[in-house]
Amino acid sequence: MSTIKEKHNLFEEKNTNAELSGGQVRIDKQHAAGRKTARERVELLLDPGTFVELDKFVTHRTTDFDMDKTKFLGDGVVSGYGKIDGRLMYVFAQDFTVFGGSLSRANADKIIKVMDLAMKMGAPVIGLNDSGGARIQEGVESLAGYADIFYRNVMSSGVIPQISAILGPCAGGAVYSPAITDFIMMVKENSYMFVTGPDVIKTVTHEEVTQEELGGAMTHNSKSGVAHLTADDDVQAMMMIRELMSFLPSNNMEDPPLKLSTDNINREDKKLNDLIPADPNKPYDMKDLILSVIDDKHFFEIMPYYAQNIIIGFARMGGRPIGIVANQPAYLAGVLDINASTKAARFVRFCDAFNIPLVTLEDVPGFLPGTAQEFGGIIKHGAKLLYAFAEASVPKITLITRKAYGGAYDVMSSKHIGADINYAYPTAEIAVMGPAGAVNIIHRAKLGDREFIAEAVEDYKNNFASPYKAAQMGYIDEIIYPKDTRKKIIQALEMTQNKSKSNPAKKHGNIPL
Ligand code: HXC
Repeated sequence: MSTIKEKHNLFEEKNTNAELSGGQVRIDKQHAAGRKTARERVELLLDPGTFVELDKFVTHRTTDFDMDKTKFLGDGVVSGYGKIDGRLMYVFAQDFTVFGGSLSRANADKIIKVMDLAMKMGAPVIGLNDSGGARIQEGVESLAGYADIFYRNVMSSGVIPQISAILGPCAGGAVYSPAITDFIMMVKENSYMFVTGPDVIKTVTHEEVTQEELGGAMTHNSKSGVAHLTADDDVQAMMMIRELMSFLPSNNMEDPPLKLSTDNINREDKKLNDLIPADPNKPYDMKDLILSVIDDKHFFEIMPYYAQNIIIGFARMGGRPIGIVANQPAYLAGVLDINASTKAARFVRFCDAFNIPLVTLEDVPGFLPGTAQEFGGIIKHGAKLLYAFAEASVPKITLITRKAYGGAYDVMSSKHIGADINYAYPTAEIAVMGPAGAVNIIHRAKLGDREFIAEAVEDYKNNFASPYKAAQMGYIDEIIYPKDTRKKIIQALEMTQNKSKSNPAKKHGNIPL
């Protein structure tokens, strides 16, 4: 019979073994690739000393392919719970040093365990992905494991925040689970996402493409719109996830956390009075307005490289987290196109699901015309944004800085689709379309008469390209000086903080997907 000391020694030996994951050689390989190990990532992510690991001694149960001869304690995923800024978080980190972080049945069960705990306790799940997908040796058992995870991702959607980081080469199921989660972070030049890799593509379509071009961080952050955030390395990725969490509540029944700020809520910014150029065709940077009005210039932008004609992100005003949706006149004149619509629509729905008030800053010449957009389905994609704003029952504050033309006026959180407070600057132009376009249609027969047309454009500008018609109708609640923007938005956020609005009971709506 072994002594207590021997039992403790065995326990220590197993712990050391588990912490060595796939062995020092593979750990060194991971480091040489500029990546941290799963445990190092978890330590960086969570408050020091708060991580509690579960299922450290789980191993896979496969005997096919002689797999029973190769077992590693933990089986390729480190999972458990800990804290970020003192708040409970659940975490799983795939361990690439063990069978490439691939998903076995046992490994899936570990992930499922933390997902189920997170739902019961109402706390976020952060998945650190670094995995070759389904463990090939386990066949359908592994596929079943993935489906069990996908199912929980869907059931958790809108109940607890789910954040994914992609920190290595991720294929197959290792990309579909993140795709269902709320935000995807990728590390530049060191993380990849694809359903099928370059080799399979070459065989099937004869296309030659590198991993980086196919599924690198910038591909998914600027081209495909699959990912939302980028970091330079693992350390920055973990810091950014901590920062993101600071804006989010732990679940859909909580309000997002307040953070005291010394930034004066009545602070004026006289420079804003000159931000909007006199010439309506001249661009300006909407980020200047955002940074001026939010607390401490602290803007956490989401998808900064994708559809830059619209800006989305988190900030605080008067200490309260808000979601900002803003047209960007400095990029494609701030036009709404397919990518901008889908980018903003998903963000609006996230904010609504998690009780984060929406502040909309509007300067939009309309929807982008053209066959590419029409054939691509701008009608249904633009409708997503309209649907999302209309459905959102969180406080909605809108400010029209300049153009609010056509359908885009309706879509961008107008009074008619439920905004609570609608502001406009004196420079706002709220009309069916811009003056030149309008006159071209109304006075088509007189287009040859240049003098008449110039006068008609001027007339239209004076009568329609202003906020006063809308203000007359009560569609704009207040016209404000730009310098007062911060104070006015905070006033509206305070006024709406106890908003209680529910949509009609239904199983779910049918957003045009
Ligand atoms: C078992 C795997 C594995 C997998 C990698 N490994 N992927 N083992 N199942 N899916 C193992 C390798 O054999 C190797 O073991 C170690 O992990 C490291 O892999 P390397 O290939 O040496 O690394 P690297 O060159 O960096 O390439 C990484 C990779 C590549 C791009 C991820 O390994 C790869 O293409 N893997 C297969 C990807 C895939 O097709 N997965 C199935 C997807 S289907 P040793 O012992 O040599 O260290 C799927 C279905 C889900 O997921 C359903 C979706 C809806």
